Amino acid sequence: MSQALPVPEDVGRLYDRFTASRDATSGVNMHFGYWDTPDSDVPLSDAADRLTDLVTDRLRVAQGSHVLDVGCGVGGPAVRIAGRTGARVTGISNSQEQISRANAFAASVDGVEFRHADATRMPFPPRSFDAAVAMESIFHMPDRAVVLDQICQALRPGGRLVLTDFVERAPIPVDKQPVVDRYLREFMMTLVRVDDYPPMLRLAGLRLVEILDISEHTMRQTFSQFSEQGEFGHSAMADIAEFGAVLVVAQKP
Ligand SMILES: C[S@@+](CC[C@H](N)C(=O)[O-])C[C@H]1O[C@@H](n2cnc3c(N)ncnc32)[C@H](O)[C@@H]1O
Repeated sequence: MSQALPVPEDVGRLYDRFTASRDATSGVNMHFGYWDTPDSDVPLSDAADRLTDLVTDRLRVAQGSHVLDVGCGVGGPAVRIAGRTGARVTGISNSQEQISRANAFAASVDGVEFRHADATRMPFPPRSFDAAVAMESIFHMPDRAVVLDQICQALRPGGRLVLTDFVERAPIPVDKQPVVDRYLREFMMTLVRVDDYPPMLRLAGLRLVEILDISEHTMRQTFSQFSEQGEFGHSAMADIAEFGAVLVVAQKP
């Protein structure tokens, strides 16, 4: 697996272009869906909200809490987290276009704000947040360990981090490697293995609470619906079972 390291400024520009090309019908989520059963015909937008809710329920926050959303996209998850929990949410993205969209989307929502920032150089004082969420953003960052360390510093003791990430569940077959490499290159991502998470979290000062392999509930249906909608035209990815997704929960001691 040869993976070029993503450069945050380039990722920001990729999302500027990508966001500018989306209209109101594209929705307010930029992450995969979660389907309870493999034959479910729930649309991607609802399944994406379902994944946000699975993440939110693990944050253990309530009214009065302050949540950091790392790589907030156009604001859908942050607004949903605030609505479901009553917590305040601050989202950051390295795409100015996304921050403008997100702030417009949340203009009439209390307690939700977005700012342009690079998660590898977090602009917050230590212990600013009660919890953090990072949905499908950490794979765009040059070094997950650095971001986990930044998040740990931004959390108060006892605060939880809930993230979703893509993983190599098993060695990618040689004939499928070019498809995966192209996908990673085009979207400026790197891939880790599930086993990489426990030591990475430990090094960052975080305690592992849960790692859930959510691949069977997310990957195939999302890739299929993306290609039907003409987004992320990588239908071949739907058949690569070794390329999966995890939901990770950690806590600052
Ligand atoms: C696939 S989108 C997910 C967006 C959002 N979490 C969601 O679920 O709708 C990835 C997000 O990560 C953000 N991102 C990637 N690298 C980043 C970095 N170094 N600093 C801040 N945001 C970053 C992108 O700008 C984008 O908002």
